[in-house]
Amino acid sequence: MVIDRTQISSGPGAAADAAQRLLRGQVVAVPTETVYGLAADATNTDGVAAIFAVKGRPATNPLITHVLSMADARLITGAWPKSAEILAAAFWPGPLTMVLPSAGKVAPAVSAGLSTIGVRVPAHPVMREILAQAKIPLAAPSANRSGHISPTTAQHVFADLDGRIGLIVDGGPSAIGIESTVVGFRDEQPIIYRPGIITTEDIDQALRRAGINNLPATIFSATDGAAMPSPGLLSRHYAPGRPTYLFFRAAINRFPPQWMQVPEGKRRGVICFGTPTDMPFEADIITLPEDLYHAAGRLYSAMHQLDRPMIDMILIELPGSDQLPALVVNAHAEPKDCHLAALSGMARVLADRLGRAASPWPRVPS
Ligand code: TXA
Ligand code: MG
Repeated sequence: MVIDRTQISSGPGAAADAAQRLLRGQVVAVPTETVYGLAADATNTDGVAAIFAVKGRPATNPLITHVLSMADARLITGAWPKSAEILAAAFWPGPLTMVLPSAGKVAPAVSAGLSTIGVRVPAHPVMREILAQAKIPLAAPSANRSGHISPTTAQHVFADLDGRIGLIVDGGPSAIGIESTVVGFRDEQPIIYRPGIITTEDIDQALRRAGINNLPATIFSATDGAAMPSPGLLSRHYAPGRPTYLFFRAAINRFPPQWMQVPEGKRRGVICFGTPTDMPFEADIITLPEDLYHAAGRLYSAMHQLDRPMIDMILIELPGSDQLPALVVNAHAEPKDCHLAALSGMARVLADRLGRAASPWPRVPS
């Protein structure tokens, strides 16, 4: 399908328009509380194929299906472990995706050949209105081209997908601002495939309150050659279009020389947390809140803001350096799985996303 221009709409008419288009098998960008999604009728093979085409997404990476309620989630899934019922009751509607056995009710491409399906009940009122009007399960990955930063405003979607889709429903900035936590199950044990604002600790506590003591395990990245438990664990993901490196505040005076020279006519982009920090060069500095829950919500927006031709390189502070060995901090090392495992709560979530943002760029030797 060739589309000349992409329309951005808001208000009550926009949800109705979106529902009509979705019922006709079209793709529509929709707001959710985490990030904007690129939705299509999950039961429509052509609609689902269009999502993969618009995003340039590998067919091996499955999509999350969004439904209005736990009852609707039951309709497209097989048997649930008890843990899944507890987590659904605790966190839905909200930023939690659960990987459950598929009942085979959606287009096979949604599950990318797996026997499971990722399901989420979103909380955003506009997304819920669209689901209520369309009365179909909606497959929706984040509304960005594969590998780009997830969009948290309608304008971010427009910048990435203008001309590729017909409609973006504008529901305001996404309140949470990073993608949902993705959790699967090994019998009753939760396996975290993608950390998110519902942290490992939150999941553990909800299960304990219900009498289940089964510490969640986290899979940080797929090992080469091994079967990929969640295909979205690709290392390059959520990445700005220009060189991006991570630094620890404690080691600012040990920046590698390559970071110190800003080319003539260019500017350096910096994202840091808490108090602004003095940089050893001229820079556009965006300071995110010290409270990492709030910081996470603004991280992608900050990356979008700095991802422009004027900026030669983006340096992003890694929070949580107090939880890591000094050796790692001093080397400005990229976070590896063993470092992520040492972090807790939101510091782990941010390190996961930042590691993926920085991963395409060759490591600068210190
Ligand atoms: O917050 C979110 O989850 C947003 C909004 C739009 O809901 N969606 C989103 O979708 O981030 P996407 O496609 O960008 O990420 C989906 C993640 C991928 O890592 C994918 O591999 C994983 O969920 N996933 C989906 N279905 C799965 C399945 N059956 N088994 C394992 N992983 C699955
Ligand atoms: Mg995505």
